[in-house]
Amino acid sequence: MSEKFDLAKWLGDSTEKVNRSLDFYLPPEDQKPIVLHKAMRYSVFAGGKRVRPAILLAAAEACGGNAEPALPLACAIECIHTYSLIHDDLPAMDNDDFRRGRPTSHKVFGEGIAILAGDGLLTEAFAIASRWDAVERYSHKNITAELAYHSGSLQMVGGQAIDLESEGKAISLEELKYIHERKTSALLCLSTRLGAMSANATPERLEALTVFGYKVGLAFQIIDDILDITQSTEKLGKTAGKDVQEQKATYPALLGLEKSKTLAAELTQEAFSSLDIFEGKAVALSALAQYLLKRDH
Ligand code: IPE
Ligand code: IPE
Ligand code: MG
Ligand code: MG
Ligand code: MG
Repeated sequence: MSEKFDLAKWLGDSTEKVNRSLDFYLPPEDQKPIVLHKAMRYSVFAGGKRVRPAILLAAAEACGGNAEPALPLACAIECIHTYSLIHDDLPAMDNDDFRRGRPTSHKVFGEGIAILAGDGLLTEAFAIASRWDAVERYSHKNITAELAYHSGSLQMVGGQAIDLESEGKAISLEELKYIHERKTSALLCLSTRLGAMSANATPERLEALTVFGYKVGLAFQIIDDILDITQSTEKLGKTAGKDVQEQKATYPALLGLEKSKTLAAELTQEAFSSLDIFEGKAVALSALAQYLLKRDH
């Protein structure tokens, strides 16, 4: 049954819906301040993989929901993710020149506008999420709290802060896990949770998808660390080899490549077992997790 599932087609459809909605929701390029709206759109439409929206829509599907009502939430997360990338690339952070196959925002628009484009996207995410229609079990209060918590200083931004502080330092595996859980798993976990909530999921299903998102999210950052070493800049669309250059704390740096690969595979396997209660309805989600483990960019 899962052999028949066409992930490439499913992902193509989901990306198309998300891109169309983002184009509709985001302020147009010719709206003043033009340079700011151009910069926001430049990074959003540079061709990201749209992994987080896909996971959100697949989680909604697993809970019996549809893509259409979940699209404001899927787009909100992509805006938060894109803002995090613009800021992550700034000279004061990872100092990267390429992102999504293009020069980074600050290279094109300057640092000031790049910072503001990130601010604009983060704020717009909440405006876009406000278009979502609440369901019986989950209110706007729930959704807003989820978005703020997973993106904020206790999760994503917090992870980024410790990531920066750990450059050039020998940190423990426990501390590295703390960083990766926050800087990356948090938004993947947010994706599965909002997908479940949009489909009015039962608390049991919400909990199962939380565990799934967390484990797949941690595996996702471990793979990102591995690809930084094993792939080319062309393939990645961002400068390869940057982690060693900047003395970043990564899984391959602490465990070596092979052990890191094994760990990512184990986490993905553990994630699969939390899908049992969906009795075959989480086909897209499990195919996505498999694809994310095997990805080459
Ligand atoms: C890159 O995320 C940043 C990490 C958290 C590892 P993605 O690999 O999802 O980047 P895009 O969205 O495809 O550009
Ligand atoms: C980025 O981690 C995490 C966030 C942007 C929140 P990385 O710094 O490893 O991501 P890349 O490799 O630049 O995409
Ligand atoms: Mg970083
Ligand atoms: Mg980076
Ligand atoms: Mg990286």
